[in-house]
Amino acid sequence: MSRIMVSAPGKLMLLGEHAVVYNHPCIVTAVDQRMYVNVEVLDEPVFEFYAPDVQVVSYKKPLSEIGKGDIPKGARFVEIAVKEILHFVQNDNIGLKVTTKSEFSSQFGFGSSSASTVCTIKAVSEILGLNLTNKEIFDLSYKTVLDIQGKGSGFDIAAAVYGGTIYFVTGGKIIEPLDVKKLPLVVGYSGIKADTVTLVNQVKKSFANRQDKLTEIYNNIGVLVYKAKDALINMDWQKLGKLMNKNQDLLRELGVSIKKLDNMIKLAIQAGAYGAKLSGAGGGDCMIALHSVQGKLSVQEAIKKAGGDVINVKTNAEGVRIEK
Ligand code: MEV
Repeated sequence: MSRIMVSAPGKLMLLGEHAVVYNHPCIVTAVDQRMYVNVEVLDEPVFEFYAPDVQVVSYKKPLSEIGKGDIPKGARFVEIAVKEILHFVQNDNIGLKVTTKSEFSSQFGFGSSSASTVCTIKAVSEILGLNLTNKEIFDLSYKTVLDIQGKGSGFDIAAAVYGGTIYFVTGGKIIEPLDVKKLPLVVGYSGIKADTVTLVNQVKKSFANRQDKLTEIYNNIGVLVYKAKDALINMDWQKLGKLMNKNQDLLRELGVSIKKLDNMIKLAIQAGAYGAKLSGAGGGDCMIALHSVQGKLSVQEAIKKAGGDVINVKTNAEGVRIEK
């Protein structure tokens, strides 16, 4: 095989963010906006990368230089992913051209970096005929993300690899696909771009002298995520909504919610949502609201009234797959 196209979904954190970095569970769903990665074998041992979506239009280096030197931000995850998989198979004599195309804006926090990492690992492994399992793809992709960010639970990688809706514990200690038939969510974008690592560090710093309090908050989040798993499977929206609200209160205590998100959440609940919370690291990005059958439109209107953008996504999307 000399060429392959692979795609992977974005993700939406449902419950458990931040606590999941520290050995607690979260629930994440894959969304139907996908990242596409095309990998082509070249005659000479070079790495070439094209990603017009993130302004990388022509990037080329000898394979011996991969992972070294100043790597443009937009190329980092794909380049380190290629380095990881070639290191895994001890292959230093192949030429690869990687092209990425995203269906979603990297602004929303839907996980474009993790989706492109997973696609790259899957595509190169298929080209080399490795037949990796999903868990092996997860492990190599997670290693790539840790190499670059130093921090992260890997929940976004799991969503990109496995798809669907997953109960997940830090580093893939548990990756449990949930049988979710329905998930009536409205997603609102705050218009503010947030950086995950900055927010994870911010929480650590602001609780440096209150470690017990931080442990208590994380434990409480862990307990409610566990309860939310059953509520979600049983489609008990009242209960799930209450747990989302409780999760939002705890995220506020962590100091990661912001006025704009608080307002979008408040108006969504006033408009009849069962529950609403921020989704992801906080500091911006998106919020989610659980709506009733008739309530979707009014919740959407409320989010717009609070200055948010409603983003149409389908949840429970398929995981990484070969396109052609
Ligand atoms: C960010 O979307 C979610 C965090 O829990 C970080 C992570 O799990 O890697 C804050």
